[in-house]
Amino acid sequence: MATVVPALANLHTETRAFPPSPEFAAQANAQPGIYEQADQDRVAFWADQARSLAWATPFTETLDWSDAPAAKWFADGTLNACDNAVDRHVREGRGDRVAFHFEGEPGDTRTLTYADMHREVQKAANALESLGVSKGDRVAIYLPQIPEAVISMLACARIGAIHSVVFGGFSAESLRQRIDDAEASLVITADGGNRRGKHLALKPLVDEALAAGDHHPEPCATVKHVLTVQRTGQDTHWEKGRDVWWHDVVDPASDSHEPVMVEAEHPLFILYTSGTTGSPKGLFHSTGGYLTGVATTHKMVFDLKPETDVYWCSADVGWITGHSYIVYGPMTNGATQVLYEGTPNTPHEGRWWEIIQKYGVTIFYTAPTAIRTFMKWGEAIPNQYDLTSLRLLGSVGEPINPEAWMWYRRVIGGDRCPVVDTWWQTETGSIMISPLPGVTATKPGSAQKPMPGVGVDVVDDHGDPVPDGSGGYLVLTEPWPSMLRGIWGDRPRYERTYWSRFPGLYFAGDGAKKDADGDIWLLGRVDDVMNVSGHRLSTTEVEHALVSHPWVAEAAVVGASDDVTGQAVVAFVIIRSDAVDLNEDGHEVAVALRNHVSHEIGPIAKPRTILVVTEVPKTRSGKIMRRLLRDVAEHRPVGDVTTLADSTVMDAITAGLEAGKADED
Ligand code: PRX
Repeated sequence: MATVVPALANLHTETRAFPPSPEFAAQANAQPGIYEQADQDRVAFWADQARSLAWATPFTETLDWSDAPAAKWFADGTLNACDNAVDRHVREGRGDRVAFHFEGEPGDTRTLTYADMHREVQKAANALESLGVSKGDRVAIYLPQIPEAVISMLACARIGAIHSVVFGGFSAESLRQRIDDAEASLVITADGGNRRGKHLALKPLVDEALAAGDHHPEPCATVKHVLTVQRTGQDTHWEKGRDVWWHDVVDPASDSHEPVMVEAEHPLFILYTSGTTGSPKGLFHSTGGYLTGVATTHKMVFDLKPETDVYWCSADVGWITGHSYIVYGPMTNGATQVLYEGTPNTPHEGRWWEIIQKYGVTIFYTAPTAIRTFMKWGEAIPNQYDLTSLRLLGSVGEPINPEAWMWYRRVIGGDRCPVVDTWWQTETGSIMISPLPGVTATKPGSAQKPMPGVGVDVVDDHGDPVPDGSGGYLVLTEPWPSMLRGIWGDRPRYERTYWSRFPGLYFAGDGAKKDADGDIWLLGRVDDVMNVSGHRLSTTEVEHALVSHPWVAEAAVVGASDDVTGQAVVAFVIIRSDAVDLNEDGHEVAVALRNHVSHEIGPIAKPRTILVVTEVPKTRSGKIMRRLLRDVAEHRPVGDVTTLADSTVMDAITAGLEAGKADED
């Protein structure tokens, strides 16, 4: 087949494999027979898994795929996600178990048992209801990584409201877009959070988001209240009637609240993620199918023993990893977790390892970009701490290079812990491809096997499976319980984006290769989505942000490979010559544009490199040829230019680059 992924050519697939130790294998939750069991009857396998949840009305139907690609799982059952994550543990006598060891960045700590969480979610649920929120309403949550973020999510679930968590690193404009799209009636935020030893303000961004501004002639019409947690004590503008403090309405609220049982298909949350266009997609997930997926995979992949393990997932609750593997999966399984507010190097570069030592963390889940950062800081730092409590390590968010995988295994895992590389997406809700730690001989850099009950393949341009040893597009071949149920308010976009490329197959947007053993190696996105530090960004979104600056006539953005962040944002911009004198102000232009992108989208989208050019390469139909720009950004010889409208454009760009016109952050 024609090579679909340029990286395929030089992919180095490791041949080393690390079988689980006999001790680990013997005690593992997932045993070798699990694959055959699931293969015998996939749908029955998922029904069995779903039955381990607490249902108010047991389901009798498992999968309804008659309106494909809209799936219904367990549709005639009713349940409540908060009841599963919290009440059930208290009901069954586990109230004294610690749910969270919270560690604030400044060093403040809080221990919350399941009984404490039970009290807090009931109060918060009563408070939300007193603010007029009820079943089906949307609530935007814009909080730092503090217990109130988890409590808010669960309180929404408890009353059947649909939460939409917006990562605290997004801008006011990004928040407004998401509030408007979901027509949220309440925003839950904090005065600020702690980041790198400083107070980061959040409430002022909510105020800005809700007001009329450059992009919105009218103030936001849907939000009735802003519920604000006092975290930092910063001075905060207060809008009477609209703004309420958490300590004024949640703390005094009654701690008795009956969870609202909802149909299994009732949406649990919306989470926005970048696609290939300028506007983020509001993906929404169901209650029963989603909980089944996250609880099952969390048990199998992380081998959780809830009585003895201390589990730590370092992701932010603002991303899907935080939703699935901090809140809903682990809590449904009754896990004891660490929740940390801050950055890994505050106040020192050993902070994470100190936390692992302090709480005796046994299972640790993080991202390759973090691992590569620690590699750069040097192994002397983790070596100062006792990490012998660890027994299992996980990775997620981007392809993990074999070097980083080996370092993680050796330095953090003491050569004793299985490393599981887990592939999944906001869309899939739960882990789709991963080794099972007691079963699979792990290979550094490969996510390896579809989870039991999950259908995965790698196909060519025609949608035909490629043989072992070949590469192509990653697809999911069967519906699965935690699959997204759609894009909020846009069914055609859902069908177009995921189901039209290969009819009957879910197209993930990733390239992949099957090795000689049939194990799967992920090769990165094949569309216009970038992956920067495990965060998804759309090239178009960053281009839109750039051209909204008065100096910019045109912009083209690519994700170029980066040693630490996986990919970095590289922007090619055409500046209006009447607006600014580049000879004098070249660097200031780059600084201004970076700040502008940060203001429009958020600091995570800031371009690492800005190249001022006079043209960008386009096809005759006007489509930007990002492939060629990626060649330039990655310092490769420029590929085939025959389809360019003007084939000299690339010469001008490379000449400019050699003349030193790139501004690096
Ligand atoms: O490209 C894949 C990459 O992250 C994308 C999904 O991003 P998001 O929805 O933000 O979810 C991230 C956390 C689940 C995928 O399309 N990705 C995620 N995990 C891996 C990965 N790429 C390679 N290996 C992984 N383990």
